[in-house]
Amino acid sequence: MMEKDLTILGIESSCDETAASVVRNGREVLSSVVSTQILVHRKFGGVVPEIASRKHIEHVMPVIDEALKKAHLGLTEIDAIAVTYGPGLVGALLVGLSAAKGLALGTGKPLIGVNHLEGHVFANFLSDPDLKPPFLALVVSGGHTSLLVVEDYNTFRLLGQTRDDAAGEAFDKIARFMGLPYPGGPEIEKLALSGKAEAIDFPRPLLLNSYDFSFSGLKSAVINYLHAQAQRGLEVKREDVAASFQEAIVDVLVTKCKEALIATGLKKVVLAGGVSANRHLQEALAQGADSVGAELVHPTPILCTDNAVMIAVRGYYQYLAHDFATLDLNANPSLKLGEA
Ligand code: KG4
Ligand code: ZN
Repeated sequence: MMEKDLTILGIESSCDETAASVVRNGREVLSSVVSTQILVHRKFGGVVPEIASRKHIEHVMPVIDEALKKAHLGLTEIDAIAVTYGPGLVGALLVGLSAAKGLALGTGKPLIGVNHLEGHVFANFLSDPDLKPPFLALVVSGGHTSLLVVEDYNTFRLLGQTRDDAAGEAFDKIARFMGLPYPGGPEIEKLALSGKAEAIDFPRPLLLNSYDFSFSGLKSAVINYLHAQAQRGLEVKREDVAASFQEAIVDVLVTKCKEALIATGLKKVVLAGGVSANRHLQEALAQGADSVGAELVHPTPILCTDNAVMIAVRGYYQYLAHDFATLDLNANPSLKLGEA
């Protein structure tokens, strides 16, 4: 018997991207629309929550309309509406969530509440058609750094997470300190291309007997280095600072992933979250995984940073598990991933 097609509308508004997407059967992207606010927030050096909420309000319905139009579908042809309900900025989350609830109420279609971080992980199903749990996942975004085992489509077991700054946050803070624009990750990566990774020996904070991370000491070491050079009137090679800092973060991430691959015996590791766009991280982790007999999967560039395709893909698997939400679903800014 032929299975019925499942077409999901995904909606995402957790930070500074308003996004909507239509995905069929968790694999076929019919449309993806992302309206980014990066240039609006750049003037302030980071995301201003109040401005983000207002921009989401302006953009959410046009973005949803465009996603449906590009998919050549009407709302009645959608099977369910999947929306990010956390983690993220509460005001920003509420805009997408309210829009989704309104559409669910108006159409009678089921509502699915999606964890943004699980969405990032599930973007990998579009890169690798053979990807199946169990696998290891490294989530590296602006607000989170977590290492977890995806045991099945709906069970996530946290191995470790950052105790202070997230990897993306460290990139953004160092970039800001160096006078580079927001978001800092891509700027550091660009600068690092012409620098020497071994030029400055920044610390590799490796917490022993733990899969946790800590990047605030590394961040301070970079800032102290820049201060000390300035005080001594010594020239700073910004490219070298960027490359050496990036190398230190990547080293730590790769080391912990290798340890986890060996300990769990898992043969695939997926990268997820905005920092997964970093080419050096992708290459180093691919090599690291290969050295312990495993394989890396990472999202395509546009699916690394925030988007609604990943929300629709995650929503598809929740639909299959009958994991539906009621209309009293609230935004949860500190929603956790894989914690008991
Ligand atoms: O997942 P994401 O788009 O938003 C959150 O959910 O936080 O991640 C944004 C983060 C920012 O910290 C940004 O600087 C970082 O991802 N990022 C990168 C790169 N592209 C984005 N970090 C390093 N290298 C990149 N190429
Ligand atoms: Zn994200």
